[in-house]
Amino acid sequence: MGGWLLILLMSVSVSAELPRLEQPLKGDGTLSFVVIGDWGRKGTYNQSEVATQMGSVAAKLNIDFVISTGDNFYDDGLTGIDDPSFETSFSNIYTAKSLQKQWYNVLGNHDYRGDVEAQLNPILHKIDHRWICQRSFIVDTEIAEFFFVDTTPFVDKYFLEPKDHKYDWRGVLPREKYLSNLLKDLEIALEDSTAKWKIVVGHHPVRSIGHHGDTQELITQLLPILEANNVDMYVNGHDHCLEHISSTSSQMQFLTSGGGSKAWKGDMDKDKRDGVKFYYDGQGFMSVELQQTNAKLVYYDIFGKVLHVFNLSKGLNSAM
Ligand SMILES: *[C@@H]1O[C@H](CO)[C@@H](O)[C@H](O)[C@H]1NC(C)=O
Ligand SMILES: *[C@@H]1O[C@H](CO)[C@@H](O)[C@H](O)[C@H]1NC(C)=O
Repeated sequence: MGGWLLILLMSVSVSAELPRLEQPLKGDGTLSFVVIGDWGRKGTYNQSEVATQMGSVAAKLNIDFVISTGDNFYDDGLTGIDDPSFETSFSNIYTAKSLQKQWYNVLGNHDYRGDVEAQLNPILHKIDHRWICQRSFIVDTEIAEFFFVDTTPFVDKYFLEPKDHKYDWRGVLPREKYLSNLLKDLEIALEDSTAKWKIVVGHHPVRSIGHHGDTQELITQLLPILEANNVDMYVNGHDHCLEHISSTSSQMQFLTSGGGSKAWKGDMDKDKRDGVKFYYDGQGFMSVELQQTNAKLVYYDIFGKVLHVFNLSKGLNSAM
């Protein structure tokens, strides 16, 4: 009896590791949101143009929230909780009424070059109620569960060859322990999930044909966990482009939305076309409309022009 209780308590405390937020659905049981990445440049590099179009798409879809795939503030994150960039790159840019919703943010590598704890500080949520940023967390919406994953600490080169950049690794060291706990917590949360749609969000791509390309550390350490748990979508930024790649070994879709400001790198890995459905080198964003058995995804450029649309569907009998 006592033993059972202990096991129960242990499993509860382990699986409770990732903070969990609840996000209500629309009255009709659906959900819609937009995704933007790699954005905070005080309006420059078409950031403001993307913001305007995002506002009008968000109004049309009556979105429930915004997802940011990280690199929220260039070049080096925030200097502190009173950094004026929070207003000049965020609050004063995404001003449309339709964008006055919760923003769920992850951190990118550029964010780690500033005061990371400032971006995580709940005071920012007081300054602008939209702002929610944690390292790794879950947003539960009933039909979909979103697993936000802090991917920067996975990438070896930031530790081994930081060049002249300083990364703020407070809260991440010792690194091996941080990563193994994160992977374990994510795996437990994915295994426990009964949501119809499982969507994982991180800054770095698993697969990309853009400037940075695949993230080998994520292919080795994260991807097996995602595939074993039937994740539907992996959503990321980091490459300043828009892309859609279908996995060749599972149903997973790799979706890059990293076109929030500076783009047009002009390079793309032409040899890695396996599963590539769409690639756009310029600025823009994407929208997602989720229903029980159907998801509609759309990519837009800075004029609001639709660049790529696709639907994903789930059989009525498909596993939960
Ligand atoms: C802004 O977007 C337009 C249209 O895509 C593009 O031609 C232009 O180069 C972009 N400006 C910058 C600074 O990226
Ligand atoms: C895609 O999904 C939308 C609903 O979100 C639906 O109206 C449309 O018919 C679907 N298209 C296809 C080709 O299934």
